[in-house]
Amino acid sequence: MRKAATALVITLMSSACAIDPGMARAGPVQAVTPQASIVTDATRAHPALWPRAASPAAMTDAATEAFVSELMSRMTLEEKVGQTIQADIGSIKPEDLLTYPLGSILAGGNSSPGGDERASADKWVELARAFRAAAAQRPGARIPLIYGIDAVHGHNNIVGATIFPHNIGLGAARDPDLIRRIGEATALEVAVTGADWTFGPTLAVPQDDRWGRAYEGYAENPEVAQSYAGPMTLGLQGALSADHPLAAGHIAGSAKHFLADGGTTGGKDQGDFAGSEQELIRTHLSGYPQAIDAGVLSIMASFSSWNGVKHSGNETILTDVLRGPLGFDGFVVSDWNAHGQLPGCSNESCALAFNAGIDMFMAPDSWKPLYASTLAQVKSGEIPMARLDEAVRRILRVKVKTGLFNDSRPVEGHLNELGSPAHRALAREAVRKSLVLLKNEGSVLPIHSGARVLVAGHADDIGQASGGWTLTWQGTGNSNADFPNGQSIWGGIREAVAAGGGQATLSADGSFTQKPDVAIVVFGETPYAEFQGDVDTLDFLPTEPLETLKRLKAAGIPTVSVFLSGRPMWTNPEINQSDAFVAAWLPGTEGAGVADVLIGDAAGKPRNDFTGTLSFSWPKTGKGEPLNVGQPGYDPQFAYGYGLTYARNARVGALSEDSGVVGSGSNLDRYFVDGRFVAPWSLMLRDAGGEFRLGSEKSGASPRGGVSVRSSDGAGQESARALSFSQGGGQAIIAAQPVDLTRQSNGEMAIAFRYRVDARAKGPVFLTLGAGSVDISGLIGEAPVGEWRTLKVRLSCLRDRGADIAAVDQPWGLRANADFAVTVEDIRLASNEGDAVCPTQ
Ligand code: BGC
Ligand code: BGC
Repeated sequence: MRKAATALVITLMSSACAIDPGMARAGPVQAVTPQASIVTDATRAHPALWPRAASPAAMTDAATEAFVSELMSRMTLEEKVGQTIQADIGSIKPEDLLTYPLGSILAGGNSSPGGDERASADKWVELARAFRAAAAQRPGARIPLIYGIDAVHGHNNIVGATIFPHNIGLGAARDPDLIRRIGEATALEVAVTGADWTFGPTLAVPQDDRWGRAYEGYAENPEVAQSYAGPMTLGLQGALSADHPLAAGHIAGSAKHFLADGGTTGGKDQGDFAGSEQELIRTHLSGYPQAIDAGVLSIMASFSSWNGVKHSGNETILTDVLRGPLGFDGFVVSDWNAHGQLPGCSNESCALAFNAGIDMFMAPDSWKPLYASTLAQVKSGEIPMARLDEAVRRILRVKVKTGLFNDSRPVEGHLNELGSPAHRALAREAVRKSLVLLKNEGSVLPIHSGARVLVAGHADDIGQASGGWTLTWQGTGNSNADFPNGQSIWGGIREAVAAGGGQATLSADGSFTQKPDVAIVVFGETPYAEFQGDVDTLDFLPTEPLETLKRLKAAGIPTVSVFLSGRPMWTNPEINQSDAFVAAWLPGTEGAGVADVLIGDAAGKPRNDFTGTLSFSWPKTGKGEPLNVGQPGYDPQFAYGYGLTYARNARVGALSEDSGVVGSGSNLDRYFVDGRFVAPWSLMLRDAGGEFRLGSEKSGASPRGGVSVRSSDGAGQESARALSFSQGGGQAIIAAQPVDLTRQSNGEMAIAFRYRVDARAKGPVFLTLGAGSVDISGLIGEAPVGEWRTLKVRLSCLRDRGADIAAVDQPWGLRANADFAVTVEDIRLASNEGDAVCPTQ
């Protein structure tokens, strides 16, 4: 039973105003005029063009609405504003809730109890309870918190949880019922640790696989997200029912990122979708109508923009369309400080986003000033009271439906549900179904379980198989010990082969003493998340796997490649060296799902056939230009929908080894690597006499000799540069055309380099980034002469000390005003894994 879509919008920037300029001029009468809309003709959505959907009537049942009205009648203005602000647990303490009446907390990808990414599950429960207890002590209307977390492939932040394949693998399975069951299992694992809400499902339809989040999308064609959005929502939340909250073990979902996060030019994360409204609807509306119809309780606005206007400030998308034809009655949460990217806004203040239709600000570390500025904006009328009430009503409605006003939490603390046998079996089923067989020449697969099997490469690395958003934001730094309930791909193969009386041996480099019957080489991408995974090409660069495959082939051993990746990649050389090639995506913690399909029985008959088919087109070159089914001139290596099976095999033959890639890309984040300045970056030496820019030469000096450089050995031969400051000193700078590092600074990346002090500084030493500088004398001063160390300084630190992070032409510099000698190497941006500093002046 659905109610008709009702427009709950107030008129501040509703469709009528947006479309009819006359009405927009009339505007509401306010003490302070709200900032003018940033919507342009090219970014104005026309609701009449959009399909219809509607939140179920059970989301707005009479009892819920009456309860919310009564509550709101007792709330102070401060309490109402507080509801609209969400803080990250890395930046808020439970006791802060007694001073700040916030409505929500989140645990971001790098946030955890006490800052320990490997905290035990009961620490997570304690954390939830501590925040809840503090919220309950607040005077006044006593509104419970809603606590959200990115459970995007299982409850991936928690040690011991079941890690399911990332969405790209689930897309290959084409199995909506599997998705519903994964939603259920994920919800239960989240609920037992005390959280209420996940930031998923991701309904992105990635069009350019160079995007670092391609793996978070189910498919390049919207049909898969359309068939999954409903089942995933129902799995997570259960069906909404009037007068009742979600059943025990269910949590609220958040469809993200609205809209067209997968459509950005060049696959640039947080970038711009340059396209028509029709294309926005046809491709990127994706499964949102289905998620809304299924009752999804929240939607996250995208960081990205449409024709240059950020979605978090586009009222025609967030309000006119979403609250009009799409009939959404839940609330809209913004993305991580996304509001700060809007014109005229900062992380600390942004009426524009709120007026455009953001109901809750994700303000991880900016919640305190944002709360104060939002309160002031409501008081001044810049944010209309009716708009605030509307947002608060939506949030409270979701809190009621989520069951947060009920004290009982029947499953919380049942930590045996984390990685339970039933969930592990489900994840293993998902792994089996996600595998896509690209090649199987000479029927090397299935491998009979009595065989002698050599297993090479990264087969015993659950962290690599799990990818980004696993325990840490980037998914880096994990070892098998961090997955007590998981099994590696190697573990699964070993077990299956042992069961059939065969013999499996693990040898990372593929060397062996006794010649095996067959070799399985597991290799692929290492973990990344968001923009840190953006790449310039789809050329798979590491060379060791190819060398290993070649060596095995040369020894006359049949080879099977298991490729782990967050996107299809150009791997023709590797495919040519493989008798069989399996795209395994990012399977997660149940590696045994791979052996279930690859290893047959003792007679060599399959135990399970392949069922997965490509939901992303596999490229014929490494160039990485958008390649999507249905586009004119579509010419993939393996098409959307392709997938061999044991029953249906086909010859692949030799593939072209011309990658088509010429030159290198923009290299935003690597400046001096392996003894070379990475194009376009070069070194410049500056002193009071002027500048000297080095070309290909490895040594030189500034005009007055204040600073000089020569090549030197570091980790490798000639991998470093020795800098020497004298005669009043100078500055060594890496320079090129300006690049925008805003996303990197918001993501807490750091500028990192290795250094060895050769002669102690006789004066202060500064690290510089454009016009920003920090005094690193203390750090460098403490470093013993002759010893290599790494220094990582947060970009946000340099931003706060004067660097223009949106236009960085000099990402790294060292300045010394007196004698000092230091050797440096490996200068690049790195993710802050808790070790980056911000030296105090
Ligand atoms: C991501 C979202 C995520 C949020 C909270 C953002 O940077 O874009 O997908 O839900 O952080 O971790
Ligand atoms: C957080 C992520 C977030 C990202 C935003 C990280 O520090 O842990 O949750 O998505 O920043 O760029």
